[in-house]
Amino acid sequence: MLKLENVCAGYGKLDVLWDVSCEVNEGEFVAIVGPNGAGKTTTMRAISGMIRPKSGSIVFNNEHLENKSMKQIHDLGVSFVTDGGNLFSGMTVKENLLMGALNIKDKSKKAELTEKVIGLFPRLGERLNQQAGLMSGGERKMLGIARGLMSEPKLMLVDEPSLGLAPSVVLDVFRTLKGLTNEGVIILLVEQNVNTTLKIVDRAYILEKGVINGQGTSAELLASDYVQKMYLGIE
Ligand SMILES: Nc1ncnc2c1ncn2[C@@H]1O[C@H](COP(=O)(O)OP(=O)(O)OP(=O)(O)O)[C@@H](O)[C@H]1O
Ligand SMILES: [Mg+2]
Repeated sequence: MLKLENVCAGYGKLDVLWDVSCEVNEGEFVAIVGPNGAGKTTTMRAISGMIRPKSGSIVFNNEHLENKSMKQIHDLGVSFVTDGGNLFSGMTVKENLLMGALNIKDKSKKAELTEKVIGLFPRLGERLNQQAGLMSGGERKMLGIARGLMSEPKLMLVDEPSLGLAPSVVLDVFRTLKGLTNEGVIILLVEQNVNTTLKIVDRAYILEKGVINGQGTSAELLASDYVQKMYLGIE
């Protein structure tokens, strides 16, 4: 289980997150939704150790993360799939996948994981020797997620996978993520695409200007006047 309590974080003197609290339980697919600049990516940076919270606590499976390094947090099974996918564009698809499995020494295990992620994203299997930089935007997203999975994460933080993708591909990617939660991977997604996100996640938090301004099950949020007006364009 992942639990953030009263997390305040920012950059130097700039405060971005104000008392952010949220939690994701085993088997749940949860999203943080909010507009540009709300602090979604900053929240993921704080969880993954890229920045250190100014106050508050972040606990994952009984371990406090707020004082740990990125490496220690990664070693606890946390994988951060950034909106750019963190890819090495001059390397092949296969090389990128293997870079995701640097923590796994056993060669047969690496091969097994490669087979598994290709099963999830068959498109990647057809392009194993293609340079990552020559893949389409959607394929690069898939590769970013696949690469994140190669470390066998227990918690995956996925930053705006829908950005720049066609609606049908977005649903595919979200369904794949949902499938992973059924295998016990905890997924925290951040998204601006509120409509599609609420169709697929179990629960969501609304983050606006660094503050959690709402939360609920997807059904509750889809029915809320505020969400309809502010995010779904329904008057
Ligand atoms: N490295 C940084 N240094 C200084 N300020 C930053 C840095 N990264 C982000 N910010 C600022 O922090 C605020 C929140 O940014 P953040 O990237 O977390 O928003 P976001 O919700 O992910 O937005 P988007 O949907 O556009 O990705 C913004 O005002 C942004 O300008
Ligand atoms: Mg962002």
